[in-house]
Amino acid sequence: MPRRKHYRPTTRLVHGPEHSSKWDFSHHVTPPLSSSTTYRLDSARRGSRGFSEYGLRHSEIGEQPVYIYDRLDEPTRAILEDELANAEGGECCVTFASGMAAISAALGSILMPGDEIVAHPMLYGCTHSLFTNWYPRRNFGVHRVDMNDIDAVRAVVNDRTRVLYFESPTNPTLELIDIAALRALADEVNADRPEDRKLLVYIDNTFATPFCQRPLEHGADVVLHSLTKNLGGFGTEIGGAAVIPESMLTPMMMYRKDFGAILGSKSAWAIMVYGLPTLPLRLKRQQYTARKVARWLEDQDCVARCVYPGLESFSQAELAQRQLRDFDGDFAPGNMIYFTLDPKRVNAIRFADTIAHDAYSITLAVSLGHTKTLMEMPETMTHSVYGTPGEASIRLSIGLESPKDIIADLESALDAVKRG
Ligand SMILES: Cc1ncc(COP(=O)(O)O)c(C=O)c1O
Repeated sequence: MPRRKHYRPTTRLVHGPEHSSKWDFSHHVTPPLSSSTTYRLDSARRGSRGFSEYGLRHSEIGEQPVYIYDRLDEPTRAILEDELANAEGGECCVTFASGMAAISAALGSILMPGDEIVAHPMLYGCTHSLFTNWYPRRNFGVHRVDMNDIDAVRAVVNDRTRVLYFESPTNPTLELIDIAALRALADEVNADRPEDRKLLVYIDNTFATPFCQRPLEHGADVVLHSLTKNLGGFGTEIGGAAVIPESMLTPMMMYRKDFGAILGSKSAWAIMVYGLPTLPLRLKRQQYTARKVARWLEDQDCVARCVYPGLESFSQAELAQRQLRDFDGDFAPGNMIYFTLDPKRVNAIRFADTIAHDAYSITLAVSLGHTKTLMEMPETMTHSVYGTPGEASIRLSIGLESPKDIIADLESALDAVKRG
C-alpha cells in the first residue's frame, strides 16, 4: 500500500483512503456506497460486542468494527469522517444530518444545565436562534461578546464557562476572529481546571472550508462544518460535521445515536466522491472570480461598502494573511463577498428583484458554496431572526461562472435601478 502521509492534502482529497479503519475497500477505485439499515449478526455474542464497543475509538477495538444498525454507525459515512478529520488535521470526525445538527450536538453533548458559553455577537441566523431561543430553556447561559476583545471575553469567563464559540469568517459580515489569541486565553483559564471542565475553543469553519483555513493549526479544539456548503459543493446534499479531539468521540457518538440526526450514507457518499476531490479546484476558481467581482463592486459609486478578505481595503488584512492559507500555504480569502448599497442611489430590494428576474449568472437564493453564484439579503433572510432590518446588505457566494458574466449581470441590475 502506498503511504498516504507523504502526499499533499489536494491529492489526498482526490484519492481518499484506500482502506479505512472501518472498512477495507482496497479493490475499489471509487469508494463503495453501503446502504443497509441493519446488519446480519453471526451470533448473539457479535451483537452484544457491537453494542459494548459502540462509540469507542477504532484503535481500541481492532480493525473491523461490528456494525449493528445504520443510526449507530455505518461504513460509508465513516470513510467520509476519516477524510474530513484528515483534511482538518484533527483526531476524529462525527458527521450529522445538517450543519445545525453538528453544532447542537457538539455543544449539547458537553454542556450541563448551568454551564455557559461565550459567543461572538454575529453568527449564522439559526445558530443565533439556537443560543437565544433554545439555550435559556435548557439553562445554558450565553454571553455575547466581541471575540477579538480578549479583555472583554476574559471578563465574562467564569467557572461555568465551557466554550468560546465563533465563526471566522463570520456569516455574513466576514469579520475574522483571532483563533490563536483565544487559544492563549483558554490555556490561561485551563491552567487550574480539571480535564473534564476545560474551556474549549469552537469554531464554525463553514465559510473558509479546510482548503482556506485549518483552525486546529491555530489552536482551536473543535471545528464545525455545514457540509451543505462548499464541502458538498454542488447544492445537492445537506450535512454537517464536527472535527473533535478523541476525548469527545464517545459522548458525540452517543449523542448522535440518541438524538438521531445522522448523515444518510447516500449523502455521505456524494460528498466524498464529488465534493471533496473537487474542493481545491472549485475554491481556487471561485476565489479568482471573487477577487475580480469584489474589486469591481468596490469601484462602484453606488456601493457604500464592499467587504472581501482579499481586498487591499479589508480592515483585518494582517489577520487574514495569517489565518487564511490554502494547502500550499498561499493566501486563500475564499468565495464570499458582503456589500451594502448607498440607499440614496439604489434601492437594495429593487436591485435584488432585478437580479432575480433578469440575471442568468446570479441566482437569488440562500445557501452558499455552490457551483452557482448565489445572492441573498441577510437582514430579511438568513439573519432575519436578529430582528434588526437596518441597512439592507447583500451576501454573494461566488460560483464557477465566468467573472465577466457575473460583473455584467451586477452592472446591468445596478444600472436598471439607479436613481436619477
Ligand atoms: C456558517 C454556517 N454555519 C452553519 C450553517 C447551518 O448549516 P445547515 O444548513 O447545513 O444546517 C450555515 C447555513 O447556512 C452556515 O452558514
